Amino acid sequence: MNKNVLSGGLAIIALVIGIMNYISIAELNTNIEKERNETVQTSKDNAHNEEDYELAKAMGYLQTYSHKLYLAGENENWELSEFYAHEIEETIEEIENAKVVDEGYDISALVGTMTNPAFEKVEKSIHDENTQAFADSYKLLVQSCNACHQTTKHQFVKIDIPEGGKVFNQSFSK
Ligand code: HEC
Repeated sequence: MNKNVLSGGLAIIALVIGIMNYISIAELNTNIEKERNETVQTSKDNAHNEEDYELAKAMGYLQTYSHKLYLAGENENWELSEFYAHEIEETIEEIENAKVVDEGYDISALVGTMTNPAFEKVEKSIHDENTQAFADSYKLLVQSCNACHQTTKHQFVKIDIPEGGKVFNQSFSK
């Protein structure tokens, strides 16, 4: 075998390896690009959700229902208390299903985790028709609302106990 044939053969091998590399790199690039498109699409979908879902509206429902819940419990109207407790539960579930991220905070993941312990106590007090336990657990529920407002930098939204015929269950003071 002469030298030229040998180097010619090597050149062909190098070329084949080169092509193989090129193909696998091209394949890799395609995959990366596909993944990136999927990521961009997912975040577009999320942004869409965020824009579509009006968290403040759902929060407004939570506020109204929790206000009425207190007044019903204060009057030992357990049937009505149960109704509002149920509405609160449904609103929380709705927020969970909406997969809403507000300024980087995963509200859907947080809302149940933060309110459930207190909310379960409220439900139990209604079931037991226990006025004192109702008042105590209601305070915890309000604290859980405010804890999340603080965590998500909405500390200025301060939910309050609607005692003494207050118009809102919210504190508007600084
Ligand atoms: C997981 C976190 C979280 C929990 C728990 C939570 N909130 Fe909120 N809340 C928010 C965020 C975030 C906003 C701001 C929404 C926005 O920017 O549109 C908000 C806003 C509000 C507002 C202002 C909107 C309005 O209608 O005035 C009210 C009222 C409110 N929440 C009530 C409540 C009540 C009542 C509870 C408890 C039963 C509660 N929230 C529990 C996160 C939470």
